[in-house]
This record gives sequence, structure tokens and C-alpha cells, in this order.
Amino acid sequence: MPTDVLAVAWGLGGWNVRVQVNGVSLAVEGAGRGVPLVLLHGFPLSSQMWGGVLPALAEVARVVAVDLRGFGNSDAPAAGYSMDALAGDILGLAEVLGLARFALAGHSMGGYVAFRVAARAPERLAALIILDSRAEADDETGRRRREEAIGRILSGGRREFLEGFLPNLISAETRQRTPRPLEELRAMAQGVPDHVLVGCLAGMRERPDSLPLLPRITMPVLAMVGQEDEITPLACARTLAEATQRGSLAIIPGAGHTPPVERPVATAEAMVAFLHAAVPAAGG
Ligand code: MLT
Repeated sequence: MPTDVLAVAWGLGGWNVRVQVNGVSLAVEGAGRGVPLVLLHGFPLSSQMWGGVLPALAEVARVVAVDLRGFGNSDAPAAGYSMDALAGDILGLAEVLGLARFALAGHSMGGYVAFRVAARAPERLAALIILDSRAEADDETGRRRREEAIGRILSGGRREFLEGFLPNLISAETRQRTPRPLEELRAMAQGVPDHVLVGCLAGMRERPDSLPLLPRITMPVLAMVGQEDEITPLACARTLAEATQRGSLAIIPGAGHTPPVERPVATAEAMVAFLHAAVPAAGG
């Protein structure tokens, strides 16, 4: 066991570890065996967003669901929330866990981080799944919105910000069908410190344009999107599927921006089918 792995706890379905990476203790949950599949959650969520899809994924892969720095049970240092810094944590984590090559799935902000991993260490990636994210950098309007959000949080309006932001992560249909997904998102966001919210909003605002990277991505790519996603709509996923060399597209009906929470069964099916085709060693 590498010394950077601080503690391991085995549960019924898998294991939980704390891993020391770049001076930060990250909380990681794992299950299954076979091809490693690293899961990166979106903003301002945690690895719990994968709870509904994890059992199905663990049937075909060794799933490694990480709480990015600042989120879930990971440490929340004062700084280091650029997409590149978060990508550095993932590469460090892969090193510590001995994952020479792995499939990587990133949801929204996790997708921005995944692009930075793909830019820095493409040889490490066996496949890439980008859920409800976009390759494009923020435009002027997007950057202004981030500024407003940062200003609101810094002036004590965290609750107002989250109450405006979180409902947009799920579709109107999901909201009408059941209150649970929104409650789950609120629970995940609740413990995220203000400086982490602010740091990640600034990190997303400053992230580079990944469009030029797409034609150079050679591993199989699945661009997945909730049909009703209004934050990163279908057109963003289409761009990803078409501009990468081995891209494909999966649309999840009835879901908005967060299909793994809104439509876990359909999401898991699409991810498993992709992994079977893209990474032949992914077993059943
Ligand atoms: C996310 O879901 O991670 C964020 O909505 C992404 C963003 O704000 O660009």
C-alpha cells in the first residue's frame, strides 16, 4: 500500500480511502474490479452524485469516485481551484493508486477538469466520458455571471446563490416528478465552504478553450447529455462527439443537466454500453 494512502475502509459494496495528493487529503470511494474508471463530479456537488450509477458501473469496471478538493469529505485548502490544479490532483491520485491507464468520466465542471487531464496526459486515458459539459471557454456573458455569483457569495448571499443555481441543474420534468434529486443536490452543496464556491467559479471563468484540443483527442469519447439540459445543451455534446476522432453521443430523455441523479438507470446503461465497446477489457 503506498504511504500516501492514509486509511482504507472496506464497506459492503467497496472501499473508501483517503489519499494524500499535492498536500491535500482527498476522499475516494471505490467498487468493482477490472478497467479503472475515475469519476469526477460537477459543481457544487460531490462523489455522491454517482450513487445511483455506481453499482451498475462496478459490474464492468473498477470505479474510483473522488471528491475533488473542497467538496464532499475531501480537504478544502484555501487555494488551488483552477481546472488545471484540480486536474493535477487527479493525475496525482492516479499515480498514488497505481492507475497507469484509466477511463475518465467528468460531469460538467468535472468535464472541464477531464479536458485538462486529456491535454496534459492523453497517454493515461483509455476512454473519456463527458457528461453535460462543454469544450468552449466562458463567453463574456458567462464570465459576467460568474462575477455576479462570486460577488453575491462574498457579500453573504450564499444561500440565495445556491437556491437560484441548484434547481437549474435538473429538468422541469424531474422537478415535477419527484423532489428527491433537488434535495440530494442541496445536501451535497450544503457543506461546501464559501471559499471553495468562489475558487471554483473563478477557476471555471478562467478555464481555457478546449475546442482546439478536440481533434487531437484520439481515445474513444462518449458525449452524454440530458435532453432538457439548459446549462450545457445538446449542441455542446454534439460538438464534442463530432470534433473528436472517435466521438459518440448519448442523449438521456427526461433529464436536465444532471442525468446520473435524475435518470440513473438510463445513464448507467449508456455508460456501460460505451465502456463495453470502447474498452474491450471492461467485463460483465
Ligand atoms: C456544473 O454543473 O459543474 C456547473 O454548472 C458548470 C458550470 O457552471 O459551467
